[in-house]
Amino acid sequence: MREVVALGYVVVSAADLGAWSEFGQYGLGLQEAQPPTGGTERETIFFRTDERSWRLAIEEGDDGGLVALGFEVATRPKLDDLCSRLESAGFPVKEAPGLAAERRVSHLVQVTDPSGVPLEFFCGANIDQAAFVSPTAARFVTGANGIGHAVMSVKDLDETGAFYIDLLGFRLSDTITFAGMELYFTSPNARHHSLAYSARPGAPVGQLEHIMLEVDDLDVVGRAQDYCLDRGAIRVMLGKHVNDHMVSFYCLSPSGLTVEYGWGGRLIDDATHQVGRYESAHFWGHRPPDGRNMEEEIRRMMEAAQSDDAGGGHS
Ligand SMILES: [Fe+2]
Repeated sequence: MREVVALGYVVVSAADLGAWSEFGQYGLGLQEAQPPTGGTERETIFFRTDERSWRLAIEEGDDGGLVALGFEVATRPKLDDLCSRLESAGFPVKEAPGLAAERRVSHLVQVTDPSGVPLEFFCGANIDQAAFVSPTAARFVTGANGIGHAVMSVKDLDETGAFYIDLLGFRLSDTITFAGMELYFTSPNARHHSLAYSARPGAPVGQLEHIMLEVDDLDVVGRAQDYCLDRGAIRVMLGKHVNDHMVSFYCLSPSGLTVEYGWGGRLIDDATHQVGRYESAHFWGHRPPDGRNMEEEIRRMMEAAQSDDAGGGHS
């Protein structure tokens, strides 16, 4: 069973909405949208990436907070089916009609995943009357494959897989095994991954590590990198991922949320896909502006720690 069709939207919190407005529009090329007519409980910026009334919302609050990952279900009967299956599996479902109005969707329920990540399952997202117009002429790759992807740090890989892969029916595209940790890449649609997760030692459980937005023009990615480079907001420069083939850079938003901005991600056909395995995340690039090879540094650190452990055992 797979009722969920896409990661439809993401809501995060930020202390400085003005800074996010500027960054979202002129850095990422998002269009700031009108809030819902009934207003919102907290002050919120809504950003458009396509014909939808919004895809990314920034709510006033603490920096770095994840308010919700919004997973889209195609129809109301499918949403009802999903709710029954979630309840049967021990995940209580909360109806939230007031929140549905704020999110401008027909129906919405709230569920918490095994790591405590706040999820919203919804159907009937509002299509805007006005055309989407990007301040940087960006055209986002969304449609049936959703907003992009989210990467989470989770408590336990097995229980997370049991929820997203076994219960929700997401496809496991592949895994990356690196420096003693594993990353899982999953999706309910043709996008290589809509949700990736790892149980990184020391990382706060349920933390949103980054979100990814994809555009259809490499020049738009390059100009966005220039914008961020000019403002000291680059985490890693352009590079290409081994598994989804995305050419992307990573920047630091004003709330501390990392945003991956990319082009050229590959699509997966469930009928022919074979689950892959990798031991590195990049074909090339994805280095910080000072050029360090962070993956190599982490690998050396882990090897040194392991040989220290082995040495300790013999003495
Ligand atoms: Fe990513």
